[in-house]
Amino acid sequence: MALGDGSSLRYARPRPGDSPGTRGPLPRETAGDGGTALGRSGIEARRRLRRRMSATITHVLGARPNFVKAAPVIRALAALGHAQRVVHTGQHYDERMSDVFFVQLGLPKPDLNLGVGSGTQATQTADVLVGMESEFIENSPSLAVLYGDVNSTIGAALAGAKLGVPLAHVEAGLRSFDNTMPEEINRRLTDQLCDLLFCTSPEALGHLAREGRPDGAMHLVGNPMIDTLIANLDKFDAGSARAAYGLGDRRYVVATLHRPANVDSPERAAGLVRALYEVAAELDLIIPLHPRGRATLTAAGLLDAERVHVVDPLGYVEFMSLVRGAAAIVTDSGGVQEETTLLRVPCLTLRPNTERPITITSGSNRLVTRDELAAAVLKACDDGPYAGELPPLWDGHAGPRIARIVTTWLAAR
Ligand code: UD1
Ligand code: UDP
Repeated sequence: MALGDGSSLRYARPRPGDSPGTRGPLPRETAGDGGTALGRSGIEARRRLRRRMSATITHVLGARPNFVKAAPVIRALAALGHAQRVVHTGQHYDERMSDVFFVQLGLPKPDLNLGVGSGTQATQTADVLVGMESEFIENSPSLAVLYGDVNSTIGAALAGAKLGVPLAHVEAGLRSFDNTMPEEINRRLTDQLCDLLFCTSPEALGHLAREGRPDGAMHLVGNPMIDTLIANLDKFDAGSARAAYGLGDRRYVVATLHRPANVDSPERAAGLVRALYEVAAELDLIIPLHPRGRATLTAAGLLDAERVHVVDPLGYVEFMSLVRGAAAIVTDSGGVQEETTLLRVPCLTLRPNTERPITITSGSNRLVTRDELAAAVLKACDDGPYAGELPPLWDGHAGPRIARIVTTWLAAR
């Protein structure tokens, strides 16, 4: 193992004594009623909210992929003159999981950080729900925009829906049909609660229709994560990424792994590390390690193989620079399946299913098991990417499309 570029495995962690939900500023109390008004009189709280509803659009962001998706939407709404507010739930809080994206993607500094931090599914979602309820009562927006499928997304959706805050969901309608993933539950429920449903791929419209969502709410707009990729393309420097890891002109593979099913249990982590060793027997393997799997994968010996370079999570530009120059990617990330589709880098997804099947039909993504991994990586490196037609509207203009639809929708209310 080498820490290649001199990065150390440093992770900011909750301080001793912190409990989930105590990081960062606490949510403000419900104005004027000691935080109990909703319990006593939900109807009165809703009325007060409506009276105070401003023309502001509030974006709720919490985890790494949210930042990448929100940047072009916020930029496009700003260009049309909308007043906006950014609330960071604090679900992700390490500098390399959060701040670096605000800097590199030019996101506005959050107006509020709820500081919910890490916790179980229930505590994290509940802390977002409570925090967003206070936020929506104090600063009731004309529309709240929610992103993706993380616990911050569903927490904010529940808080907003119960207060009658109009809601938009960016990346609506994706389905893995695998309820063992918390994200699938978050997606389905969020889509039931939102008034505007922005879809990144055509099959999402069918899923939403079958779940009873009205036609008028759904919009195929393209993919804001791809907007961010296209906007930053000229910053992705594969040469400097190679130099940082001493790769010369050798072929290399990048891996990102953070799904509970892959990294949470010591047994699964050990199986995963064995599969990664098989890959590293053939090629250099660079792993920007998500904090979720750090303990289990390290205990399973991830750092012990010679051609495995384990580093901290990377900033967006550094990560995409590495991806751009890679012979293949191994991942369980949702976003990375899409980014490799656009960059036409072969992608092996270590999952039994994907909510993004369009990356398989339009790109060079393939679902693989741990046992198949090494052979699949070698074959993918030799075959190169499938150069099929890209998904419709993945053209860098999803943000402006969303902004125009939001503007028209708000004007009609
Ligand atoms: C979350 C999302 C997942 C998304 C991923 C993006 C849910 C249910 N899951 O998973 O859909 O793909 O974000 O990366 O919302 N940690 C840190 N520092 C941080 C953040 C987390 O050390 O800044 C560690 C903590 O030990 C924490 C663990 O990572 O317990 C998991 O974080 P969490 O936000 O609960 O879920 P992710 O696995 O990151
Ligand atoms: N990413 C990054 N640095 C890394 C790993 C990922 O910038 O070290 C970016 C990646 O390019 C994509 C986003 O993070 O834009 C995806 O986040 P993640 O895989 O954590 O979440 P998912 O998409 O699986 O929900």
